[in-house]
Amino acid sequence: MPVRPILLYPDPILRRPTAEVESFDSGLAALVDDLAATMYDAPGVGLAAPQVGVSRRVAVIDVAPGRPESRLHVLVNPRLVASRGRESGDEGCLSIPGLTEKLDRPAWVRVAAQDLEGRPFELEAEGLLARACCHEIDHLDGILFFERLTGLRKELALRRLRRLPLAAAEAAR
Ligand code: NI
Repeated sequence: MPVRPILLYPDPILRRPTAEVESFDSGLAALVDDLAATMYDAPGVGLAAPQVGVSRRVAVIDVAPGRPESRLHVLVNPRLVASRGRESGDEGCLSIPGLTEKLDRPAWVRVAAQDLEGRPFELEAEGLLARACCHEIDHLDGILFFERLTGLRKELALRRLRRLPLAAAEAAR
């Protein structure tokens, strides 16, 4: 289970919508192993395939790593099928180290996805797990969390983003 390098904003792969997974083969299993290893190593609570340079619709989530309630969720071809409520909470991203912002997300979601063998299942989630599902599904659609901010919050976040060292290369172009 090799840990892979995590791509950083503004890598263009992060803005590209991913392709659906069609073959549920050993290559997919290896990708999921690597995603999990990379997420736990970071450490983070979720990681999407484009963050390791693979533009496929796959993500892993564990909102309690290292704790008794730890559970690895593997989402292949996930879609948000229902959501309820709004909840504000701090959000960050392994591809944008240094940026944490308060962001509204649904308080409850239902996600339809497939497992490693292609079997469909649904996941109902609330709180941090719901937030992580939304964040990772956004990654698979090429959306980064700060793009979900609105108004003054977005302006301030973009200003902070420009000041981060990782964004300096883009600003200089
Ligand atoms: Ni992220």
